[in-house]
Amino acid sequence: MKTRIILCGACGKMGGNVLSLLSSDDEAMAVCGVDLFPKALSVPVYKTFDEIQEEGDVIIDFSSSQNLKERLEYAKNKGVGIVLASTGFTADDLALIDEYASTTAIFKTANLSLGVNLMQALVKTAAEVLGDAFDVEIIERHHNLKKDAPSGTALMLADSVNEAFGNSKQTVDGRSGICGERKKSEIGMHAVRGGTIVGEHEVMFAGEDEIITISHSARSKRVFAAGAIRAAKFLKGKKAGVYAMKDLLAEENK
Ligand SMILES: NC(=O)c1ccc[n+]([C@@H]2O[C@H](COP(=O)([O-])OP(=O)(O)OC[C@H]3O[C@@H](n4cnc5c(N)ncnc54)[C@H](O)[C@@H]3O)[C@@H](O)[C@H]2O)c1
Repeated sequence: MKTRIILCGACGKMGGNVLSLLSSDDEAMAVCGVDLFPKALSVPVYKTFDEIQEEGDVIIDFSSSQNLKERLEYAKNKGVGIVLASTGFTADDLALIDEYASTTAIFKTANLSLGVNLMQALVKTAAEVLGDAFDVEIIERHHNLKKDAPSGTALMLADSVNEAFGNSKQTVDGRSGICGERKKSEIGMHAVRGGTIVGEHEVMFAGEDEIITISHSARSKRVFAAGAIRAAKFLKGKKAGVYAMKDLLAEENK
């Protein structure tokens, strides 16, 4: 039986990409959507989760960090998994996600592409090898409609670098004015916004007389939509807990 998907944020750009891929998927299908601003699509779209008539197996969430509790509560009450692909979550939101993880299967990642998942491992290894002799700066570029900064992916990459330093570094968002010399404990974060850039991430290790850059460029939003569908298929029937790309890859490569 196909994995039945409830798509939160159905009327947005990512929602459109997911619906388009699902229309020709043999293993998964969209049963309905939820969107704060519903419009006519190929499946029914509701303004709230309370109105949903259809049964689903997994929610794919490409909406925003708003009303997170509504989605988690629905997933818990219905016993369905949820792929949280939205970004911009606050510390309180992350605590809420952890709370619901005791009863609900939650797949959470700020980036659903295979390339960025590999990049996380590469930047961690680079940081371990290069150590404090190299300053780490992260530059991300996105389209002019993106609402959060720095991107969830940039924060995820900073976390991977920081793991190599025993979480002793602090991120510093941009710099301006007389901000003084760069401290060794900094990971600089720089958010560029413009045009239709899908998503570019660059982690720069700047040492004495040499620079190493590890970068990833997404050329279309389809890569994230395909990742979300893959995650939904993986999550169907899983027990409660928080899952990430590495769990999906481990299962697929068994
Ligand atoms: N994890 C990833 O790999 C990845 C990739 C791309 C985008 N994203 C994230 O996905 C989200 C959506 O991106 P987008 O480009 O489609 O944005 P978008 O603005 O085009 O679409 C968002 C849609 O969600 C709806 N929405 C917003 N808040 C809602 C809520 N609380 N309940 C129901 N509907 C709501 C909006 O009305 C809109 O139709 C963003 O947070 C973005 O950062 C994540």
